[in-house]
Amino acid sequence: MKELLAETADRAARYVTGIGNRRVAPLPKDVARLEALGGPLPQLPSDPAEILALLDDIGSPATVSTTGGRYFGFVIGGSLPAALAANWLAGAWDQNASMYVMSPVTVKIEEIVIAWMLDLLSLPPGSGAGFVTGTTMANLSAVAAARTALLKRAGWDVEEDGLFGAPPIRVVVGEEVHISVLKALSMLGLGRSRLTRVPVDHQGRMRADALPQLDNHTLICIQAGNVNTGAFDPAREICARAHEAGAWVHVDGAFGLWAAVSPHYAPLLNGAGAADSWAIDCHKWLNVPYDSGVAVVREPEHLRTAMTLSAAYLPASEFREPWHYVPEASRRARGVELWAAMRSLGRSGLRDMVERNCRAAKMFAERLGEAGFAILNDVVLNQVLVSFGSPEETRRGITEIQSDGTCWCGGTQWQGHTAMRISVSCWATTEEDVERSVEAMRRIARAGKLP
Ligand SMILES: Cc1ncc(COP(=O)(O)O)c(C=O)c1O
Repeated sequence: MKELLAETADRAARYVTGIGNRRVAPLPKDVARLEALGGPLPQLPSDPAEILALLDDIGSPATVSTTGGRYFGFVIGGSLPAALAANWLAGAWDQNASMYVMSPVTVKIEEIVIAWMLDLLSLPPGSGAGFVTGTTMANLSAVAAARTALLKRAGWDVEEDGLFGAPPIRVVVGEEVHISVLKALSMLGLGRSRLTRVPVDHQGRMRADALPQLDNHTLICIQAGNVNTGAFDPAREICARAHEAGAWVHVDGAFGLWAAVSPHYAPLLNGAGAADSWAIDCHKWLNVPYDSGVAVVREPEHLRTAMTLSAAYLPASEFREPWHYVPEASRRARGVELWAAMRSLGRSGLRDMVERNCRAAKMFAERLGEAGFAILNDVVLNQVLVSFGSPEETRRGITEIQSDGTCWCGGTQWQGHTAMRISVSCWATTEEDVERSVEAMRRIARAGKLP
């Protein structure tokens, strides 16, 4: 075992230290070689060292270098050194983080992380939290808590009696709502098409002046950090209006809530801390390994009521039992990496990481703007939208940038325009990475100009 783990550490270190010299997207021939991992299931056992070698030799070249400094697709963080190392140790522990009796260490760590996180993100002390796979599940968990609370106020016990015959919940979202919120709403029986959609402005921010009448059976889902522009909904105004009417405000703050760690960017949050629940991603801007998100609910009992489970064989407990706050029972110990990331960076390190990424986003916008390309959004955070000209020129530019391998960006449609998205979310991105990427983008986009 010791030799196997040492060999694993060697191979992983080679991968991690070589990431800056690799192509970002793998070559098609390396992806084709993945067939070698298949074939008929072996009849007999093999040496684990051989298995590891096969996985590394065939698998590693086919990975996308999302942990390197030049991956700007979607919103993807890398893995901080302490977080990756903690992930390995936690893998060796193989704790089931569902109950105190199974893993006191992970329950204690979750408690510590909740307190640190509420403090860092300026969320209400005493809020309840569940550690889930990412923002989609954080949205689901928090919206489930909202559903429980709103129906309870209407005299309905949704956990016992279900949704058939329940008083209706009205759901309000912005036109720019993230698809993961729609997925959460649909999974919870609140539907995708019975929603009231509020118009947005040119940055994708919900227009507070266009809010419909709110009441105490309304759930309003707002966002902190639009996936295209990085813009924030006007939370202060919306929360004030909603709370006056007794409505519940949920914030999809996947990456945007991390703006709170920087005094410079925190004002963007616009009072999002006044909401009732929040969904936060940790594999994005906290840069912990996949998969990791947190659902936070101001009044913990609503999350607990929505998620709790009990059975005769489960011990009574005086501790915060994690499985009362998440959809799963058995779970891996995700809190360990969050603890390591926060503990290793500290407040100032987290602030530096977020500010560095935002500076890099500004640098992209400046350099590409100077080169004559149109920047389609106000670059307020870490997201940049670029047009290389006509929709066809932009689409061609994106495809060629992806296959060139220097960096990787995806595409989008933004308010009628075809755009390339640049999301700077990785701790490892340096100014040099930005310069190299801009150089590749300019070269490719210029060469692809239509006559
Ligand atoms: C605003 C927003 N919400 C939700 C999500 C979904 O997050 P996850 O993929 O972690 O479920 C994303 C992902 O980019 C996002 O940007």
